[in-house]
Amino acid sequence: MHNAAFAALGLNWRYLAFEVDPKNLRAAIAGAQAMGFAGLNLTVPHKLLAVEMVDVLDESAKKWGAVNTIKFERDSDDKIRAIGYNTDADAIIQSLREDLKVELRGAKVLLLGAGGAGRTAALKLASENVAELYLVNRTQTKAEEIAGEIKKQFPSVKVAVGYPKSNVDLILNATSLGLKTDDASPLDEKQFSLEQTHAVYDMIYRPAETALLKSAKAAGLKSANGLGMLLHQGAEAFEIWTGQTAPLDVMRRALEENIYRK
Ligand code: ATR
Repeated sequence: MHNAAFAALGLNWRYLAFEVDPKNLRAAIAGAQAMGFAGLNLTVPHKLLAVEMVDVLDESAKKWGAVNTIKFERDSDDKIRAIGYNTDADAIIQSLREDLKVELRGAKVLLLGAGGAGRTAALKLASENVAELYLVNRTQTKAEEIAGEIKKQFPSVKVAVGYPKSNVDLILNATSLGLKTDDASPLDEKQFSLEQTHAVYDMIYRPAETALLKSAKAAGLKSANGLGMLLHQGAEAFEIWTGQTAPLDVMRRALEENIYRK
């Protein structure tokens, strides 16, 4: 999506993927900086490690405690600084609004997963003033930790660990269950039925349709996969690096072509 966007804007830039062992992350960032890279994206498991490895943390990275985007910037004394950003949190909300048309203020949300993605989603949803947030995770202590953080930071949000007793507006999957095509659904339908929600969002975008999304569609619910989230975190990073408006349509088409071979 980035290379398509560079081409569309006539920028002689390239976006390349590198696999970096976490123990070499600091050296990789310094190397990119030394070679005059404009910036970097980082993904699992580097997002938390990178927080300690940049010169400056943008508010977004401070707030979410993770860096997925770095911009290298020359400052007034001609030194290059690495600035760390987080574009994931905004992207979740943008995609929920765009793809599911859900109003988050006052909504009741069941969130599955309390790993890195789940934590960011939970805090961001709370900051959007959802009314009720139910956190379900295989390792319950992680969900409890996030619930505690929300109680402190967002006392007006009703947060609880476990499946809700009443209906919700949205179920959001932030677990990695579904990445493999034979994975079971992360929703325990004995504890909470799909009939008790209006919409389902799965952060997974490959496969395009997880077991959870398949069931949601069969139940006639509004549903969306994580492609929009991938798009928006990328578009925001693109704007940070280039200072230009991201060509969203071009980027979306490139994603669909490359991921789904449409
Ligand atoms: P990410 O950065 O994508 O969130 P992560 O931090 O490794 O990755 O989180 C993975 C999430 O998927 C966690 O919520 C994890 O549950 P645990 O906290 O109990 O590990 C969840 N997950 C992964 N495999 C799972 C499985 N087989 N069943 C249920 N949940 C699973």
